[in-house]
Amino acid sequence: MKKTLLSFALLAAMPAAAQLKATVTLDNENAKQIINKEIYGQFAEHLGSCIYGGIWVGEESSIPNTNGYRNDVLNALKELKVPVMRWPGGCFADEYHWTDGIGPKENRPVMVNNNWGGTVEDNSFGTHEFLNLCEMIGCEPYISGNVGSGTVEELAKWVEYMTSESGSPMAKLRKENGREKPWHVKYLGVGNESWGCGGSMRPEYYSDLFRRYSTYCREYDGNKLYKIASGASDYDYDWTETLMKQVGNRMNGVSLHYYTVKGWDGSKGSATKFTNDEYYWTLGKALEIEPVVKKHIAIMDKYDPEKQVGLLVDEWGTWWDVEPGTNPGHLFQQNTMRDAFVASLTLDIFHKYTDRIKMTNIAQVINVLQSMILTKGDKMTLTPTYHVFKMYNVHQDATYIPTKVTCDKMAADGDRIVPYLSATASKDAQGITHISLSNTSLDKSEEVTVNLNGLKAKSVNGTILTAGCADDFNSFENPNLVTTKEFKGAKITKDVLIITLPKMSIVTLEIK
Ligand code: AHR
Repeated sequence: MKKTLLSFALLAAMPAAAQLKATVTLDNENAKQIINKEIYGQFAEHLGSCIYGGIWVGEESSIPNTNGYRNDVLNALKELKVPVMRWPGGCFADEYHWTDGIGPKENRPVMVNNNWGGTVEDNSFGTHEFLNLCEMIGCEPYISGNVGSGTVEELAKWVEYMTSESGSPMAKLRKENGREKPWHVKYLGVGNESWGCGGSMRPEYYSDLFRRYSTYCREYDGNKLYKIASGASDYDYDWTETLMKQVGNRMNGVSLHYYTVKGWDGSKGSATKFTNDEYYWTLGKALEIEPVVKKHIAIMDKYDPEKQVGLLVDEWGTWWDVEPGTNPGHLFQQNTMRDAFVASLTLDIFHKYTDRIKMTNIAQVINVLQSMILTKGDKMTLTPTYHVFKMYNVHQDATYIPTKVTCDKMAADGDRIVPYLSATASKDAQGITHISLSNTSLDKSEEVTVNLNGLKAKSVNGTILTAGCADDFNSFENPNLVTTKEFKGAKITKDVLIITLPKMSIVTLEIK
């Protein structure tokens, strides 16, 4: 990585080699809120090689597979404990007609993926293939319905096809296609980015469409639906305000999309070649999601003080220029330690707001933006972001322990302040406490004192993710350059834990 000066460092007085110091205090008394496991949701879109080649290779493939799903990817997803998966898009969803993806594969029509590179798809991965995948890896499906170019009848029948037990025309069709029992489908998105690729609508018009479409999405045979309205992008508070006013608790949830991206015009920057200033800028932009969600939540609180409507950040993550030589419409990007920090810092923020944030879905699970897994032919590699999600899955459904963090900070770009430490903690159902710590400094180790505040600690174990350089990544040739290791840098001393975090490291501790 090209070295540049950390020009705005607030630590100007600190000698280069000095160690940073930080404290974390656990507020065990106020540990009440459950970290919804759906915060760790994934997103599978028909985009590039996310579905075809990434998840699905077909039964005839020479790549080892189970009923057409890649075995290596299936195993990696199972290990990750994916709680929920969104499908089929994204922008793709509002041009997807589900009836093209059912029945004998040889009869399914081909389609052109107009949103993503004009790629021709054969519809061999459809409703059955997605819902069966969810059953195989043990996650909830989140179906994103077509409002932009689809009809009310089409969406209503899709719900009937997936969830109606028997007796209805769509249940009969499903059975003819080989699936006797309905699937369990709870999460239903009514459109995606309806202000943009999902129909270029105004919020007032979309609000009425949501009310209309969702009316006919019936709950069959005890299947409870959680209906999600297509929400705002980033700073569009008016969209949230209008939906809360016009739709209110007719929706169970409203979405929000936030990408850690420089801007939508021109270059977004390379995923793997960046300066120190760009590294800190990115972390600052990731942290900016906190004031953004707070503002959306404040609007929701005004109309829904009981917090009945959930906020679902159903697309988030980094967005870089595509890897050189790859199809610009396929959005294939690499993933470095910088992406790992975007993941850990963002998850730390989501943990704080789970009374309102009910689900989030990082984009996308395989071969696209901030992916967990990358594949090329029969090769597969797990990204640094995958390792963060795996280290952090101990927080799923655990009780959030609020923390007070005191640490040094630096200003990355004018008003964006990046603390050198981010922390989050939770207690699981077995009474085990987990603390995750991120030392964001590129060049300094950090001594962290955790005040346990009455928590009795007998033993501490840990896992660490770190790298030689912030731009290290896992390639197909060197798939384990950035990987997790056992961490032995934590010691219990009376009522405190003393931890030495190497520069640029993410650690999860297990305290018993
Ligand atoms: O994640 C890529 C695209 O970003 C999604 O399809 C769309 O919803 C968003 O604009």
